[in-house]
Amino acid sequence: MEETITLEEIDHIVHSIRSRTGMQPEVAMILGSGLGGLAEAVEDQAVIPFEELPPWPVSTVMGHQGRLVLGRLEGKSVAVMRGRSHYYEGYSMARLGLPVRVFQRLGVKVLIVTNAAGAVNPGFDPGDVMLITDHINLIGMAGLTPLRGQNLDELGPRFPDMSRAYDRDLSQLARQAAEQVGLPLREGVYVCLAGPSFETPADLRFLRMIGADAVGMSTVPEVTVARHGGLRVLGLSGISNKANLDGDTITTHDEVLQAGQILVPKLTALVRETLRCL
Ligand code: HPA
Repeated sequence: MEETITLEEIDHIVHSIRSRTGMQPEVAMILGSGLGGLAEAVEDQAVIPFEELPPWPVSTVMGHQGRLVLGRLEGKSVAVMRGRSHYYEGYSMARLGLPVRVFQRLGVKVLIVTNAAGAVNPGFDPGDVMLITDHINLIGMAGLTPLRGQNLDELGPRFPDMSRAYDRDLSQLARQAAEQVGLPLREGVYVCLAGPSFETPADLRFLRMIGADAVGMSTVPEVTVARHGGLRVLGLSGISNKANLDGDTITTHDEVLQAGQILVPKLTALVRETLRCL
């Protein structure tokens, strides 16, 4: 039987968070592989390890430090997920969507998601930042979605629209913020695969053919839940490696984490400026 998450479980976590901090977050952020450093900039932090918020999914991957950081950044109240979990770690899709449900019930209106991604677009290089303009839910097309099962009508509609998964106003704000901080901003379509194996050259040529610019193993489940719940979403990919379309190079997790070190200052500047203008 597939795992489901109840409204009671979600609200229990919401109460647990409220009992530790009076902070009312307006913006939630999910930080991907190697990008957790962004959380250090948060002021007046209340830090809650994910383990203390069961059944919050706890990441098992190196490069993800699992804790929720609540505080202020650029004058905004934020809830930052330092580290996230992935489907390949064995969690159900429903569990992966739980943190976004908690944000929704906490009253968060805007979700900023970041991830590390491989460049499928041959014009992109490691260290580039890509504004996600849309995604291909390849994992969802294969049936893996957090919205499977009974719909909780209190949280959103049975058949949510996904025509504007990534908010146009927030995207425009991010473009202006990038210009302001002098960061060249790529734009493109993110495709989510289950992983954990990286792609074969034939996989990558297929992904390029169907219109993907960047590939990764996260984000789309969370964004699907966020849109179901009516949150506005801004998505940013840190390009950590060039996809290996010709089979001549290999991709490693170390490479992804190393690129994260270059990407953290760029994403920090971009997210801070975007928040400031929000
Ligand atoms: N493929 C899939 N996921 C990734 C990659 C990649 O090349 N880089 C970072 N996450």
